[in-house]
Amino acid sequence: MMTRREAIKAVALTAGALTVAPSFLQGETSDSSAGSSTYPFKLAPLGYPYDALEPYIDALTMQIHHDKHNGAYVENLNKALAQAPESIQKMSLDELLLNLDKIPDNIRTAVRNNAGGQYNHSFFWKLLKKNEGGKPSGELATAINTTFSSYSGFQEKLSEAALKVFGSGWAWLVTDGKKLEITTTPNQDSPISKPNEKEIPIVGIDVWEHAYYLKYQNRRAEYVKAFWNVINWDYAAERYAAALKG
Ligand SMILES: [Fe+2]
Repeated sequence: MMTRREAIKAVALTAGALTVAPSFLQGETSDSSAGSSTYPFKLAPLGYPYDALEPYIDALTMQIHHDKHNGAYVENLNKALAQAPESIQKMSLDELLLNLDKIPDNIRTAVRNNAGGQYNHSFFWKLLKKNEGGKPSGELATAINTTFSSYSGFQEKLSEAALKVFGSGWAWLVTDGKKLEITTTPNQDSPISKPNEKEIPIVGIDVWEHAYYLKYQNRRAEYVKAFWNVINWDYAAERYAAALKG
């Protein structure tokens, strides 16, 4: 019997279904934020002023991070896909990341890094909003309290994961549609690419130095502490509610 993920992959690979995101990912960040659901991908505007997250994340960091770093992921993803067969070019960002094993060898690493970079950052920009000490509410708050005992218990666990990422990567709060879990990924790997698990990002901390170096230099712990002030809990709650519906 096929697992749910295998079934999703099978559907995604059926001719004519390649541009349709799997149901559990619909409403995800990729299509709307990428500005185009398939190749050639575009960098969507940030959606708020560069200085909107001051003093926690500075304007210059946001400008360079969005325009230059995220911009480069989009550009390099398009360069890689320019050499790909049409069947691959027709795949959405979600489908590329769910089917990395189907990407031709000569562009697989470039697609993994740059589609992952585009996916992760498209999500990240939406997740950021000054919250003035706000906390999650509703079903997400209940799930966080149940899983981690308390909001502060959750903060401690996610912060710890973020600080333990060696080199560049991400720390995440993900769900499989039922339970919550904290995980990390190296480089620009996306949680949705994990072959044997369904992991939908609800919260993600970018701990690449490009996310904090200008303001915090090497002090990742200070950046992670500041990050709690810029989580858009309404967006995280929306994603969690959508993930529960499957
Ligand atoms: Fe980044």
